[in-house]
Amino acid sequence: MSLWRDTVLGVATQPAVKQLVKDHALARPLRQRFVAGETIDDALAAARALNREGFRVSLDHLGEDVSEPAAADAAVNDYLALVQAIAHAHVQSGISIKLSQLGLSLDRAACQDRLERLLTAAQTVGVFVRIDMEGSAHTQETLDVLRAVWPRHHNVGVVLQAYLHRTGCDLEDVLALGATVRLCKGAYREPPTIAYQARDEVDAAYARLATRMLEAPNYAALATHDPALLAHARAEAARLGRPRDSFEFQMLYGVRRDLQQALVREGYRLRVYVPYGREWYPYLTRRLAERPGNLLFLVRSLWAEQRGNGARAA
Ligand code: FDA
Repeated sequence: MSLWRDTVLGVATQPAVKQLVKDHALARPLRQRFVAGETIDDALAAARALNREGFRVSLDHLGEDVSEPAAADAAVNDYLALVQAIAHAHVQSGISIKLSQLGLSLDRAACQDRLERLLTAAQTVGVFVRIDMEGSAHTQETLDVLRAVWPRHHNVGVVLQAYLHRTGCDLEDVLALGATVRLCKGAYREPPTIAYQARDEVDAAYARLATRMLEAPNYAALATHDPALLAHARAEAARLGRPRDSFEFQMLYGVRRDLQQALVREGYRLRVYVPYGREWYPYLTRRLAERPGNLLFLVRSLWAEQRGNGARAA
């Protein structure tokens, strides 16, 4: 699995591959499945439909690793518009952001200013902001920024990745701060010196960390589609007497809808992470890297499309 992930994430950064995928209709089936559309209206429509089915939502305006301050300014303005749109549309949704999208690699102070503007605007209309966790080059700075804004803003939480060796310590720090954590397995290519590579090691770390989160008083967000880990979390929540409104499960748009619906039917909170926008390439390569089956899905969709076109042409 790690080999598959390393290969896909490695190949995907090659400019020629990127161009090929972006120029051709290659990624369309994956895009249609995993991304809610390109505009705020598309995102709100998806959020509204999910709310009607009993799901909470977190909207992610796709984008990361900007290389110029103007792009970071544009990203924060897009998010400010999104926050206002969420409030006006009365949808039940938070937002998910990436600090590299707000210019973390360019100028940390400017990135923090942009985040604070966003947090202030979001606070005014009651919108929660989750800071996604990116590759390990950003881990420490992301946590430092969270710590810096926390005294002025409590409508913010962070993501921690179970595959990193450091996460046990980071979790204690964030819990002590009082913030909420979204726990995920981790989607980037990381070396064995800092991250577990074997699936069973990552899963064992996830289970340990999930239990720790459920022991602590902080609101907890457990992001996974892994049935064994979902069963573990449910059993631990019951053992520890956690009320069902004190934690939530989170899953990705387009992944395991059956599980999402089953959890809501059982009375659990379930939040769907809904990405939208034009910068879909890195997001989709991570989804492809998580699951070899998605390549098959892609090939099958393209094949079906070709046959459909052929039939129409004939
Ligand atoms: P696992 O990979 O073992 O998958 C379990 C099952 O889920 C699979 O057998 C399959 O059925 C299904 N599944 C999982 N991924 C799939 C896919 N791409 N396509 C189709 N089916 C799939 N990572 C990160 O590094 N930083 C972050 O901020 C976030 N944020 C985040 C938010 C939310 C809400 C979720 C659910 C996930 C993230 N992630 C993330 C991604 C996360 O780290 C991880 O890569 C994926 O969730 C896949 O891991 P699972 O826990 O689902 O287990």
